[in-house]
Amino acid sequence: TTPAPGIHRGLAGVVVDTTEISTVIQETNSLTYRGYPVQDLAARRSFEEVAYLLRYGELPDAAQLTAFQARERALRPLDRTTLELLTRLPGTCHPMDVLRTAVSFFGAEDPTEDDGSPAAHHAKSLTLLARLPTVVAADQRRRRDLPPIPPDPALGYAENFFHMCFGSVPDPEVVRCFEISLILYAEHSFNASTFTARVVTSTLSDLYSAVTAAIGALKGPLHGGANEAVMHMLHEIGDPARAGAWLAEALAAKRKIMGFGHRVYRHGDSRVPIMQEALDRLVARTATPEATRLAALHTALREAVLTRRGIHPNLDYPAGLAYHLMGFDIPAFTPIFVMSRITGWTAHITEQLGHNALIRPLASYDGRGQRPVPEPAPRA
Ligand code: SDX
Repeated sequence: TTPAPGIHRGLAGVVVDTTEISTVIQETNSLTYRGYPVQDLAARRSFEEVAYLLRYGELPDAAQLTAFQARERALRPLDRTTLELLTRLPGTCHPMDVLRTAVSFFGAEDPTEDDGSPAAHHAKSLTLLARLPTVVAADQRRRRDLPPIPPDPALGYAENFFHMCFGSVPDPEVVRCFEISLILYAEHSFNASTFTARVVTSTLSDLYSAVTAAIGALKGPLHGGANEAVMHMLHEIGDPARAGAWLAEALAAKRKIMGFGHRVYRHGDSRVPIMQEALDRLVARTATPEATRLAALHTALREAVLTRRGIHPNLDYPAGLAYHLMGFDIPAFTPIFVMSRITGWTAHITEQLGHNALIRPLASYDGRGQRPVPEPAPRA
């Protein structure tokens, strides 16, 4: 049903606060982090530099970067209790549940959990940035019946993640493609999971609670879960020649086409051209029959959706296929999104506290009119 005038279902089009962290410019389909165009950051900077920028507002100089990297690398290992906790979770639970549980556990263990000062936030944010990849990699290996591989402090953030997942680091072109995806996923204004983190923070709850809630929001297929759904959909279609017929059936059944559409961008997601270019390089380099088939299918479906519905792909569309070609298991795709978005979430949590107002909207009641409570029926 269409809501009555003045009701903003889904908060569509509603501006609820100011932010200095990033802006999506609809008219030009562009995105800036702290004023820097994301495509320039993706072309010239490392993910660690972007993480620093989102947290502190400026790009690091050489000494600041070295210090930041040294702290991040030192914080990567998980203690035995955490590793044991993770192995006790049922193998049937989704890796996003594992990550949500791990963050909740980190909060329970942190004696400074309720310290909301900027210094405490910087420390907790860096700890989460450093530790989440270790959780995601250990969990992927557990599902493959393999023991965890400890982090390597000699490796950068992206390289170390490959090392912990596979025991080796692929060639620099693959690592760079992964790093570009992390830079693009890092921050996107008041998306659903970031807004969730801000709602929790607005009650003066702690950072771990806000991040745990944000992970829950990101898991859904209308949000971060779409990068996994994209890969399931490509497997379901299978053959590039089937893309058109599959799409006709899916649209007739009113299915959502995963990895397409966006609440804010109506003419294409600013991040897609950069990720698509990185994906194209990855496909050319991989050059297996499977990669070639999936890339052809990916293109055929994108063109069919655009022609039939005029809907553009979002970042999850190229990122989903890229993660598959890099060798990650599908259920690890949204956790990888978390490893990156933790930078945006924690920057927003700190910003929310800087000018906090409890987030508590109103609802227009359209339930039953007031009525008397009937006398309870006599007991038998
Ligand atoms: C992310 O907000 C962010 O910034 C999020 C994000 C980030 O970085 O944080 O960018 C990450 O969450 C990307 C989105 C991932 N989700 C998907 O790929 C799932 C598939 N997409 C959709 O369901 C949808 O496009 C949304 C949820 C992304 C946006 O939904 P809206 O803004 O509520 O729009 P809508 O569902 O009301 O769609 C408007 C119209 C409808 O048609 P009409 O009823 O007007 O005829 O467009 C159609 C929709 O049916 N439509 C789609 C579609 N997306 C929009 N139809 C089929 N398949 C789609 N994917």
